Parts: sequence; structure tokens; C-alpha cells
Amino acid sequence: MAQPVTTIRKVERTKVKAAEPIAYFNGKYAPKRSVKISPDDRGFLFGDGVYEVVRSYGGRIFALEEHVERLRRGLGELRISGFDAGDFVRIAGKLLEENDLADGDALVYMQVTRGAAPRRHAFPTASTAPTLYATATPFEPKGDPARGVAVITQPDTRWARCDIKSVNLLPNCLANQRAQEAGATEAILVRDGVALEGTASSFLTVFNGEVRTAPATNYILPGVTRAVALELCRSAGIPVRETPVYLDELESAEELFLAGTTLELMPIVKLDGQPVGDGRPGPVHRRLYDLFRERVRSGA
Ligand SMILES: Cc1ncc(COP(=O)(O)O)c(C=O)c1O
Repeated sequence: MAQPVTTIRKVERTKVKAAEPIAYFNGKYAPKRSVKISPDDRGFLFGDGVYEVVRSYGGRIFALEEHVERLRRGLGELRISGFDAGDFVRIAGKLLEENDLADGDALVYMQVTRGAAPRRHAFPTASTAPTLYATATPFEPKGDPARGVAVITQPDTRWARCDIKSVNLLPNCLANQRAQEAGATEAILVRDGVALEGTASSFLTVFNGEVRTAPATNYILPGVTRAVALELCRSAGIPVRETPVYLDELESAEELFLAGTTLELMPIVKLDGQPVGDGRPGPVHRRLYDLFRERVRSGA
């Protein structure tokens, strides 16, 4: 009996080995394991860079232009030059092909840092090329929108430019780790009593049937999924307002949900151990989720 099982395992291992991930690195597509980043890279030394994550559904990338625009804006805000954010379109497409994901569900990650230069805080010389790195990986869903997820709240210890999608994510990592340790999926970051967003997702609430979410200031990332959700609310006649949502109001919320490229629209059914509403995903989420899926299907 033991013999055939061993044989099957061997075959599976060989298969995994054959699908070697191909990465994009400074203009070239090559096996990810061959990528070598300089120890002088300012992304490594200072977290001096930006990134983007896009999701492809059956080979079609959702809201790609919006992600490109955010990347362009982030590069501009950090004054990183030498890469045109529009090139992400071509790189993402090629990576999906190279990794056999042209028809599948996948995530494409791209990171641009200010490049490698002797370590000093001020910018290196203008001739320093940015470091470009991107990967495409099969998408693995986290959480079930029909069941929802638990979240905790955490103090927001990030800097004051959360609108830039910087690779400097240490406060996000620390808060997310707290969430994992509490058996939750995400941590909602709270600054000055205002519940702003998750560590890797936007945060939406429903009070009296109205969707409310923090305004897009420097204290949140302007989430692409958040923007799509707000637009869907407006076109479907769901009342919606961008206004601060206070931590001490949350216990009376009818619904809470997360929005993000990987989570799509994910209901929160438990906040700091307490049920949200009746402890199940609510009707506003359901409606928006259906509209969102419709948008994904239509590819608009
Ligand atoms: C802090 C933060 N807020 C919100 C989001 C959601 O943004 P998007 O919908 O563009 O994925 C992310 C995504 O990574 C994030 O890191």
C-alpha cells in the first residue's frame, strides 16, 4: 500500500519544480531565484520605494489604469524618476504570460525603489537608476464573503503620508501580526479616535443604511477597490458619504466591511470580539458585492 503513495508524491514534487516562477527585474524576465538585489538598494536600507498589487481575473487585470495612476502619483510624490508607471501595463501582461497565468486568477506585484547607492539619507545622484522588480503569482483567496471575517482595532502608528503606497510597511506589519495573534484577519487602524482603514485594505461602514468611510486624505491610502465601491454606491442609489468614522460609533454600525484588491468586498462579522450587527454579512454588503462581481465580469 505504501508504494503507490510515495510514487504520487514524487510526481507532484517534480511538477511544482517545473513551474519555476519568472520575475521581472530591471528590464529582464528571468527565474525569480536568479534575481539579486544590491545591499545598497535604498528599498532595503530605507524602505525608499513604492509598490502596486493588481489582480487578474481569468487573465484580465481589474482597474489596471487606476493602479497605474496611483503608482505614477506615488513615484511623483517621492520624486523617484527613471520609470514610467505606464510600463507596468506591459510588464504585468508579459509576467502573466511567462508564468502561465494568462487565463488564470493571479496577482501581479510591482515594486520600484530609488535604486542602489552609497548609504546616505539625501537622494543619490540623478544618474542612479531605480530598481524595478515584479512578480505574478496564482491568486489564493483569503476569507469567504458569505461568512465574513473577524477584525481587531489597533492604534495607527504610521507616518503622515499614508496616501503613498510606500514599501515601508512596518507599522502595518506589526498591527497585522496582532490581528493574526488574536485570530482575526485584519486590524483596523485608529488615529485620534478615527477608524481609518485596515493594514492592507480600506474600511467601510453602514449606519442607517448609509455607507460611510474615511475621506481620502493623507491618512489613508486611496484604495482602488474603495473608489469602485463608492462609485457603485452612487450609481445604485445607495447613500454614501466620505466622512470620519469614530471608533466609539462602531458598536452601533449595522455593517462593516473591508475593501481591497485581494479581499474584494469582505464583510466584517466580528470587531474586537463583539458581533457586528446580527453577526452575519449584511444586505448593503451583499448588494455591493453583487454589483462588484458584475463589474469584474463585465471587465469595465
Ligand atoms: C493601507 C491600505 N489601504 C487600502 C488598501 C486597498 O487598496 P486597493 O483597493 O487599491 O487594493 C491597501 C492595499 O494594499 C492598503 O495597503
